[in-house]
Amino acid sequence: MKQLSNRQILLGVTGGIAAYKSAELIRRLKDRGADVRVVMTAAAMEFITPLTLQALSGNPVHTTLLDPEAEAGMGHIELARWADLILVAPASADFMARLANGRGDDLLTTLCLATAAPIALAPAMNQGMWRDAATQANIHTLTERGISLFGPAAGEQACGDIGPGRMLEAEELAALAANMFNHRLLDGIRLTITAGPTREAIDPVRYISNHSSGKMGYALAAAAADAGAIVTLISGPTNLACPERVTRIDVISAQNMFDATIATLGSCQLFIGCAAVADYRPTNAADQKIKKDNETMQIELVRNPDIVKTVANHEKRPITVGFAAETQDLIKYARGKLERKNLDLIIANDVSNTNIGFNASDNAVTAIWKEGETTIPQMGKNQLSTQLISLIANQFFAVKN
Ligand code: C5P
Repeated sequence: MKQLSNRQILLGVTGGIAAYKSAELIRRLKDRGADVRVVMTAAAMEFITPLTLQALSGNPVHTTLLDPEAEAGMGHIELARWADLILVAPASADFMARLANGRGDDLLTTLCLATAAPIALAPAMNQGMWRDAATQANIHTLTERGISLFGPAAGEQACGDIGPGRMLEAEELAALAANMFNHRLLDGIRLTITAGPTREAIDPVRYISNHSSGKMGYALAAAAADAGAIVTLISGPTNLACPERVTRIDVISAQNMFDATIATLGSCQLFIGCAAVADYRPTNAADQKIKKDNETMQIELVRNPDIVKTVANHEKRPITVGFAAETQDLIKYARGKLERKNLDLIIANDVSNTNIGFNASDNAVTAIWKEGETTIPQMGKNQLSTQLISLIANQFFAVKN
């Protein structure tokens, strides 16, 4: 079954007896992992109540264009941007006529005008209305513009007629919606990824840390979510916004990061250790601020647990990917780490070059696994992340699409 995990579907419901099937459709879309928001036209509300669809979708139902309260929440442009797909089911003859004419006379038509997302229509109407030349001309216009048509099916109709115009069943519509998305290389795969630096307390106001910005880990988390993965990002302190569709767990120290990571084992299939974890922490962090009474001071440090190594050797081990930041003999050291830590893949980058790696926007890496390696030249961390996610998906997860 093709999944819709992480996909945001805006379901438009227009006026027609098939609107009762929209309730079931919400269930089927959610079963496949989609987040569903419903927009109803005034006519749709004559057939089914917003309350029903709100309860099923778990989100407020949007019904009017010029509602200051709704605009203060998720306004119409925001909704248009939110959608990965607008699916109108049922799509009435009137709605399609308005859409074909570029009207923006209610919320749903306005959203269809404003969105950059693909639009799919599931027509539902009497067979005479479907066959009518005006409807057929509108459909021609709409499909010419790249709008997809799901159905209609032919058969017995609510009005007693037999012919084309019946809305497809909810399960068929959910499957067609899932087909609209490709590049779903990590569809439904649960990923835990660490990112950013850690801070190791010396006393309540001081800590040991490093220059990691977290950019690479965040970019990877975003690329994985875009590829359909269900992503938990365990992040040390950074200034970055959490990517959309990613669940972030904020941590401070290496020990916090270790605990949060281990808690996801058993339910994650892929782990990427991208954090710059402090190798050592003060053995005893002082309870009170340390006074500068002495000319010198010594802090005893103790090794932190190696998170990626622990994950890779755990009985509930997922596919485990690590990073190796090196300043010399990049490939040799990285390959050594791959073996020593029992990793499936290691991504090596040369941090002696200040244009790439730590804190920079660009990176260039060599991905190394047991039987091979591949080099990805310097590029932006977002683009690089997309390539790395494809590589991981192709290497370790069968592509079923
Ligand atoms: O051994 P080294 O620190 O160079 O290895 C880097 C890799 O190990 C990275 O993937 C990093 O996230 C991970 N690591 C870790 N826990 C540590 C130290 C490093 O997960 N305590």
